[in-house]
Formats: sequence, C-alpha cells, structure tokens
Amino acid sequence: MLLALETSCDETSAAVIHDGVILANVVSSQIRLHAEYGGVVPELATREHLRNLLPVARAALRQAGVTPRDLRAVAATRGPGLPAALRAGFTAAQAAAYVLGVPCLGIHHHEAHLYSPWISGPPLRADWGAFQPNVSLIVSGGHTMLVHVRAELEHMVLGSTLDDAAGEAFDKVSKLVGLPYPGGPVLDRLAEEGRADAYDFPRPLLYEPHDDFSFSGLKTSVRVFLQKHPGLADDPQALRNLCASVRAAIVETLIGKTLRAARRLGVRCVTASGGVTCNRALRRDLATKCAQLGLTLRLAEPSLCTDNAAMVGILAERQFGRGLGISERDAEPEPGWSLESLQRVG
Ligand code: KG4
Ligand code: ZN
Repeated sequence: MLLALETSCDETSAAVIHDGVILANVVSSQIRLHAEYGGVVPELATREHLRNLLPVARAALRQAGVTPRDLRAVAATRGPGLPAALRAGFTAAQAAAYVLGVPCLGIHHHEAHLYSPWISGPPLRADWGAFQPNVSLIVSGGHTMLVHVRAELEHMVLGSTLDDAAGEAFDKVSKLVGLPYPGGPVLDRLAEEGRADAYDFPRPLLYEPHDDFSFSGLKTSVRVFLQKHPGLADDPQALRNLCASVRAAIVETLIGKTLRAARRLGVRCVTASGGVTCNRALRRDLATKCAQLGLTLRLAEPSLCTDNAAMVGILAERQFGRGLGISERDAEPEPGWSLESLQRVG
C-alpha cells in the first residue's frame, strides 16, 4: 500500500495505490482561483497546497479504506515544477515517511506522465502486462516532448518544445480571442463546430528533420491575423472556424512529428499523456492514423491526463518494486529536474 502526493503546479492530489490498482485518487484543482489572474500565481498555488494537502490525503486514505499504518511507502513529485509548490508536497511526504518509518520516493513528474497511458480500467489499474516499447507524446500547459520508451523505466528524450508548450499555445490563442482561462478546453469545444480549413495557420517545424517543437510563432500568426481581421472573433461562426483552424495546426503538428518518430525508430506503439491529450481532435485523429498504420495506440484516460497523484503512485510502486526512486532523508525538491537526466538508454 502506497500513498502518493502531487503538488508540482496547480493541482493538490493524493492517491492510494496497491498492487498496481488505484484505490483512491483525490484531486483538488485550483483552476478557478488562478483564472482571475489568467495564469498560475505561484504564491497562491503554494498557499492552497499547504491548506489542502492534509484534507486531500485524509480523503484519499478514507476512500481507499486504509489507515496510515497500512502504508509501506510514501511518494511525492520531486520535480520539475514550481519550487515552493513542490516543496509543500515533497516535504509532507518526507515527514509522513519518517514518522511511519517507511521509505519516501521522489518521483519525476514527466516520467509519471510517461507511464500514465498504461493505466486503464475500470477499476483503474496499471496494465504493465500490455507494455510495449513506444514513442510517447507528453503534451500539457507546461511541457511538450517526444520520448522513446525502449523498455519499462528506460527512455530517451527525442525532442521538446523550444518555446511555448502546446497547451500554452491553446491558452494564449484563446486569450487573444477573449475566451476564459484555461482556454484549451473551451477552444476545443468551439472547434468541434467549426471548419478546420477556413483559415491557414503554420504547422511549425513539422517538416524539419528533428523532434523539437515550437508554438510561439503560431500564437503570433494568430495575433497578426486578428489585427488584419478586426472584429472577426465577435462573429460566432467565424470564431468557431478560427478555433478549428488553430486546433488543426497544433494537432497536425503534434501527430505528424509523433508518427514520423515512430516510423524512424521502427516502433509499433504510440502513447500520449498530459492535459492536451484531452483534446478531442488529438484523440480522434491519432486513433484514425494509428489504425491506418497498424500501430497500437494508448491514450491516457481523460481523468488521468491532467496532473494527478495516481500516476505518481503507479510509477512509484513500480520503481519501489525494483529498488529505484527511494530518496535520501535529506533530499531536496528539484524544480528544474530534466527528464534527460534520468535517461537509462543512450
Ligand atoms: O497537464 P495539465 O493539467 O497541466 C500542466 O502540467 O500544464 O494541462 C493543462 C493544459 C492547459 O494548457 C489546458 O488548456 C490544456 O492542458 N487542455 C487542453 C484541453 N484540455 C486541457 N488543450 C486543448 N484541448 C483540450 N481539450
Ligand atoms: Zn503535468
């Protein structure tokens, strides 16, 4: 039995995991608090984590029907993330582990996303038996990266964004057209009723011979487009068409680069995780393309796409079973921890 905590950004979450099964996964989102400011305010995020950690952890234990004495380990996200927010969760985990006399595991947030597509249900559980080497797209508001997962817990980062993350691009474009924060899900909904071929936006770096991304230029081209067409976003159908056209540019770029990497590496499985994996077009189009190419596709469950402690706990339990990930008593959070530094293959 393992308790996991996640506090790297604006979700306070606690989960209880046993033998690969998620017994509880409680997530307290701060989205509404930060919406007023149009983005995550680190001080407020930390205050909310400190306020909510204990109630959220208690709720997870209660839902799972376990007591602290049943725990064999405590895990928390150690990095990357907002420094003080990470410290709130990681220090709480260290203190709990010390008092209970069990190990504390410090988990890499992106590595937790990397394996979240292998959790399926109901009940939600790790499907390690189905694991296949894969090319994995991690795509959220804070990160966009492509990773080659050669075997369980063995990965190599292929590329990442040179500037904005894809979710950030969705959010910034949404802001330009006056949609509420975070705009990604709203833009996605509007795009469902728009024409994706209405306007032509760039597919950044799609045809470049590397696996990096860049989305800041796309945001600029939407801004320039809006300057040339003032008032366009006030027409509901034009707005839907604009949303659909922008979404197509982002999604085609993400899918094109992912599938090209899979083909180059001879990998037969593709996975995707992170908040943007909730995007309807991304899920639909990846499913269609992978089926056409005979590739296995694993998409993180929508409830596990955004930040959550269940993915942290699932990875922690797997690592614990192999004697990996156990932190020193005096370990510090690592706000700038790179996924590359964990590479176990060359
Ligand atoms: O993983 P996440 O909760 O937090 C980060 O670590 O960033 O992802 C949040 C991001 C936001 O940028 C949000 O706009 C985006 O994911 N997002 C979406 C959708 N749902 C969430 N973007 C596009 N379409 C969606 N349906
Ligand atoms: Zn994340």
